[in-house]
Amino acid sequence: MTVAAIVPAAGRGERLGLGRPKALAVVGGLALVARAVDGLVAGGVDAVVVVAPPGDEDAVRAALGARRAAVVPGADDRVGSVDAALQALPGDTDVVLVHDAARCLCPPAVVRAVIDAVRAGHPAVVPATAVADTLKRTGESGVVTATVDRSGLAAVQTPQGFDPATLRAAHERARTLRAAGGPVAATDDAGLAEDLGVAVVTVPGDPRAFKVTTPLDLAMAEALVTAGPA
Ligand code: CTP
Ligand code: MG
Repeated sequence: MTVAAIVPAAGRGERLGLGRPKALAVVGGLALVARAVDGLVAGGVDAVVVVAPPGDEDAVRAALGARRAAVVPGADDRVGSVDAALQALPGDTDVVLVHDAARCLCPPAVVRAVIDAVRAGHPAVVPATAVADTLKRTGESGVVTATVDRSGLAAVQTPQGFDPATLRAAHERARTLRAAGGPVAATDDAGLAEDLGVAVVTVPGDPRAFKVTTPLDLAMAEALVTAGPA
């Protein structure tokens, strides 16, 4: 049986603003996508499918070097990119993770915890952390209309883990809805599974699984790599 991972890396990295795909940005001499794959393999993943920006497949392959990974072209948004990778999963996959290339410093222990929870029988698993900031609801022109009780809230990271039939069914539903012109509100794979009525469970996330989104995040990743293992 195979633990497979889909690594969406097909985004353009507009907010990082390097003028090239974010997955190819370098931290401590290694591209984000290569670091993300190394973390997954260290956490117990056997097979990896990386989703590259269409036209940049060779650049992603070069960044991956000798790492064993299939590379497939992605789509206009993240949901479509993950969907594009489903057909490339090995036939005997019994656990599938979806992990953002941009979360390149996710500790292997988080990967293992997600795999273990799926193996324990949970069809959908997400790493979650507590929300640190106070949250407010705002209305027109930014006026605060309410303070949100954050005790029942969690910030969700990747890798998100699924039994393969659940992930396939979740994307199948999203694909069908889109083809009919309907809205797909979910922005992550667990959200698509929730839309199917699947119970999504949490395991403890880790601050180092943060998503590199802005130049500040890239500087933070560089500092963490320079500082060495925590
Ligand atoms: N992603 C993808 N396909 C897309 C959009 C995003 O595979 N069409 C991937 C990104 O490569 C990233 C992850 O999904 O690893 C999370 O997306 P995000 O942080 O938004 O990355 P980008 O879309 O590249 O960044 P931006 O939104 O700033 O352009
Ligand atoms: Mg994006």
